[in-house]
Amino acid sequence: MLASPAFQRWAADFPLTRPVAARRARGLFDVTAGFVYSQILFACVELSLFDKLAERARTASDLAPEMDMDLVAADRLLRAAVAIDLLERRGVNAKGEVRYGLGKLGVAMPGNPGIAAMVRHHRMLYHDLDDPLALFRGELAETELGRYWSYAGSERPAADGDDRVAEYSTLMSASSGFVAEDTLDAYSLKDHRCLMDVGGGEGRFLIHAGQRWPHLQLMLFDLPAVVARAEKNFLEAGMAERARMVGGDIKADGLPEGADIISLVRVILDHNDDGALAILRAARQALPPGGTLLITEPMSETPGVEPVGDAYFGLYLLAMGSGRTRPPREHRTMLETAGFGDIRLVRTRRPLQTRVVVAKAV
Ligand SMILES: C[S@@+](CC[C@H](N)C(=O)[O-])C[C@H]1O[C@@H](n2cnc3c(N)ncnc32)[C@H](O)[C@@H]1O
Repeated sequence: MLASPAFQRWAADFPLTRPVAARRARGLFDVTAGFVYSQILFACVELSLFDKLAERARTASDLAPEMDMDLVAADRLLRAAVAIDLLERRGVNAKGEVRYGLGKLGVAMPGNPGIAAMVRHHRMLYHDLDDPLALFRGELAETELGRYWSYAGSERPAADGDDRVAEYSTLMSASSGFVAEDTLDAYSLKDHRCLMDVGGGEGRFLIHAGQRWPHLQLMLFDLPAVVARAEKNFLEAGMAERARMVGGDIKADGLPEGADIISLVRVILDHNDDGALAILRAARQALPPGGTLLITEPMSETPGVEPVGDAYFGLYLLAMGSGRTRPPREHRTMLETAGFGDIRLVRTRRPLQTRVVVAKAV
């Protein structure tokens, strides 16, 4: 019945069903037009509009020359951004021209440069999604994201040099703030002695953890070229003495011992099931009995934000050519197989960004 156009017409007229029908129609339209909304956001980011308007509200005629557009085009872009809540109208100036400022979504952009970095990065994903059926059917010889994430399809990722890891490492660093904060708020490291962050990138999570818990010893494990990039960050944070850095390939080399807690921040989702299990086994081997493993990453089937784990990351990882988001129950099964017990899901503030699963080595 819901599928029938006659019923839909009736539901859109009948007072009791009208609001639901309107919401559904809007919902379907938003899915249909989502790629347009994303490109409006992309244009605003490329033009640094959020930073400009964070300073003061401005008019289309004032902005047009900086945007390298004529007034009509500038006005069209600003209206479009208002329509999707990135910007808002802030009254008119003495000449009667509308002033634009940050809208209720755009207001979060200047303070979180990681979001703009992701929006720019999406140019590649957008390209890879051009023919979604070819992507699903595995018919694309190469994808932009597969090239970008050099370790994703590599047999010997430890051989990658700085030129292969620099771009993704910078992006990960820029986007790690929320994940680090929410994870460290969700799980206390007070009773731990030494934290090893595996696949820890340029060390942002470890530096956050070290700042919050000054008693903690720190270990970073990542590919050699990535670890080399991290060293300067520990020096800048005044933590070089507390941090030990080890470069290697988790799957080929295993992990060094010495930590009583290992974290995997946005790492497991990058790997197919055999790779993910190999990483969990390596973590189990490196931990003493009773040691803790903490997984923090976006997960599948997260209530209220299903599109993030299952639609966005589902397709992102498909384009990257490796990994998948998993629901917490699959983390549990893999953890049990790898030799962990006492597995629990810890509540995080923004499950859209990350969810946390903690387990003990048995
Ligand atoms: C998605 S990034 C996450 C980085 C960081 N944890 C964060 O959340 O910002 C995955 C990290 O795993 C590392 N990695 C991937 N495969 C690896 C392997 N086989 N051995 C060691 N590190 C690896 C990558 O170099 C990268 O830094």
